[in-house]
Amino acid sequence: MGLIPISLVLFLHIFGLIVSTSPLHAQAKVFNVVNYGAKANDKTDNSAVFLKVWNAACEEEGKKEILIPAGVFRTGPVKMNGPCKGQMLFNNRGVLRAPSDPQLQVREWITFQYIDGLTVHGLGTFDGQGAYSWSYKKTSKYLVLPDTLRFHFVNNSMVHHLRLIDSKGIHMMFYGCYNIYVDHIHISAPGDSPNTDGIHIALSSNIHISYSTIGTGDDCIALLSGARNVNVSHVNCGPGHGISVGSLGNTQGEEDVTGLLVQSCMFTGTLNGVRIKTWANPSFPLTASSFTFQDLIMNNVYNPIIIDQEYSDLSTYPEQGSSQVQIRDVKYINIRGNSMSQVAINFLCSEFKPCQNLELNNINLDYHGRGGPAKADCTFANGVAYGTQNPPSCL
Ligand SMILES: *[C@@H]1O[C@H](CO)[C@@H](O)[C@H](O)[C@H]1NC(C)=O
Ligand SMILES: *[C@@H]1O[C@H](CO)[C@@H](O)[C@H](O)[C@H]1NC(C)=O
Repeated sequence: MGLIPISLVLFLHIFGLIVSTSPLHAQAKVFNVVNYGAKANDKTDNSAVFLKVWNAACEEEGKKEILIPAGVFRTGPVKMNGPCKGQMLFNNRGVLRAPSDPQLQVREWITFQYIDGLTVHGLGTFDGQGAYSWSYKKTSKYLVLPDTLRFHFVNNSMVHHLRLIDSKGIHMMFYGCYNIYVDHIHISAPGDSPNTDGIHIALSSNIHISYSTIGTGDDCIALLSGARNVNVSHVNCGPGHGISVGSLGNTQGEEDVTGLLVQSCMFTGTLNGVRIKTWANPSFPLTASSFTFQDLIMNNVYNPIIIDQEYSDLSTYPEQGSSQVQIRDVKYINIRGNSMSQVAINFLCSEFKPCQNLELNNINLDYHGRGGPAKADCTFANGVAYGTQNPPSCL
């Protein structure tokens, strides 16, 4: 099959299934925020009402649904804490809109934490209104802006059928979570918005992300310290920086990142396709292992396949070091499309800890620019190649 039929199939999957309705939750006790005084006038700050409704629902036995009906509800930061007495549904059928002011001292907008059995869904929108704060970020790279949806220590939960737009910071973040299903999520922010990553996963395991589209100014999905057993499938990325493991290894006490399957995904106009990135200076020992990148399509991607172990901050640490992060057992299977740079495959590994057991299997990446056909570059990279190899393998 050529490139176009497969892209079409992917699109049909993503857009065909998006209209599938979520199961009804007839038996849940409904807490409609309007009945507690919330105002859908795109003006009133509803955060105190949302918190009151959350706490009331959380305290009740059985299954509860917090309902945000159609309408535009303004809200400042809200932190919804468990543990709760039964299953919690957060059904957003309207638009939750963040304050338009830049919120330069705030780190998170809507947070759910310490909850077992949470569903966030409803076809509604979380509008971060980031446009007003991005200019501050562009002039101060250490500034931290609030993330749109954060999940801290949440287990056995689902996040599905939602739209997240224009986050000030990261759109969705999982920290300390276990067994989460994320699907039919649309995330969008302009390609030049700073650090508006799609989904971050840290210190979390068994996270499943599928049937979603993510286009932002930074990583589509990023796995950070302590991410384990993450399954990403049928995700469309672009614009942005692609799917990334890392940056890893620049602080002491980070945990290994292991077990990632990225399958049946498409990248369009992204800076990277699939990237593993570790710090060279400063660098602390760590392992990044057992990743499979399979059945991927690259459309106009600058660096379709890249390992970069030479990331460093030369203004603070002028001497380039060598990364202490061990990368091993990484498979690239059935990856095709076109590269916007001549080096379609770049394995820049660490002299101190060379990459082990990389595998390239059926790779077909074209380059149509100046300088001749696509190339693969290997530096301190060990592994094997099978099947079609365009560019010719460097392993
Ligand atoms: C989530 O699961 C972990 C590991 O099983 C457990 O330690 C933690 O208490 C659980 N958290 C909640 C909120 O249920
Ligand atoms: C990953 O997700 C896909 C699609 O949901 C599923 O078919 C596959 O079995 C999952 N793989 C693992 C290892 O969980």
